Amino acid sequence: MTPLLIPMPGNSTLATELRSAFSCEIVSPELHRFPDEEVRVTLPAEFAGRDVHVLCSLDRPDDKILPIVFIAALARELGARRIGLIAPYLAYMRQDKRFNPGEAISSRPFARLLSQSFDWLLTVDPHLHRYKSLCEIYSIRTRVVHAAPALAQWIRTNVPRPVLVGPDGESAQWVSEVARDCSATYTVMRKVRHDDRTVDVEFADATSLAGRTPVLVDDIISSGQTMLSAIKALGRHGTATPICLAVHGVFASTAYDELLRSGARVLSTNTIFHPSNAVSLASPIASALEELHSSL
Ligand code: R5P
Repeated sequence: MTPLLIPMPGNSTLATELRSAFSCEIVSPELHRFPDEEVRVTLPAEFAGRDVHVLCSLDRPDDKILPIVFIAALARELGARRIGLIAPYLAYMRQDKRFNPGEAISSRPFARLLSQSFDWLLTVDPHLHRYKSLCEIYSIRTRVVHAAPALAQWIRTNVPRPVLVGPDGESAQWVSEVARDCSATYTVMRKVRHDDRTVDVEFADATSLAGRTPVLVDDIISSGQTMLSAIKALGRHGTATPICLAVHGVFASTAYDELLRSGARVLSTNTIFHPSNAVSLASPIASALEELHSSL
């Protein structure tokens, strides 16, 4: 039977792209908010015996979680064969440690919640820092798609003489991979985060910048402060106008406007629908879905 693809609000553009590479029927749910702000989901679809894929990028996750849990429960009650979650951006991965006494390590209960509702999870470059892999916290089958090849392809096509710049030690893992894939040099900066919106970034080694276009590559742009601090540091070295390239453009509050005002070009993949989307991951996500299905 044709698999069902259920795009949650904000995910229909990616759903349409996915359907051209992965055979499925798209059915959009209706979400009704009652006056007391409870939500009711309605999905008039035939679930019995079908593979169900809920597509929901989990930026700004708190209002999205209950609707997807309710849809998974509905599909299960009505006889779905397997229920998977495609969450191109996976939330709560940065809360992977008790940084201060009494703080919750939210990534763990969040993973438990999703693992109880879904049979598998597909995501793109989750923020794996202290966890080595998702299976440390997710008890269901997980599949990770890497954005590096698509980012490298975009750089190869659009940036003459690039130098890739990772804004912090954590970014070294994907910056080095992207740099290798597009045969570019790279350097990784040192970052000190003082609080949510105060970040200092500086070069350990700026020798590779001369005569090149800097491409700042990071997994997430949230407050934008990491990128803004890196742009300032590049300015101190007199480089060409930088390009900021993020896998996940969360762009909290005024982050996108602040970054544009800095003069940088700001681009992201389409894991989160946003005007900065320039690199589509529909094709690698569709391929990963095919592989996942053939191995379930
Ligand atoms: C760090 O842990 C991540 O890789 C990003 O550098 C970070 O999430 C960016 O956050 P912000 O945009 O708030 O500085």
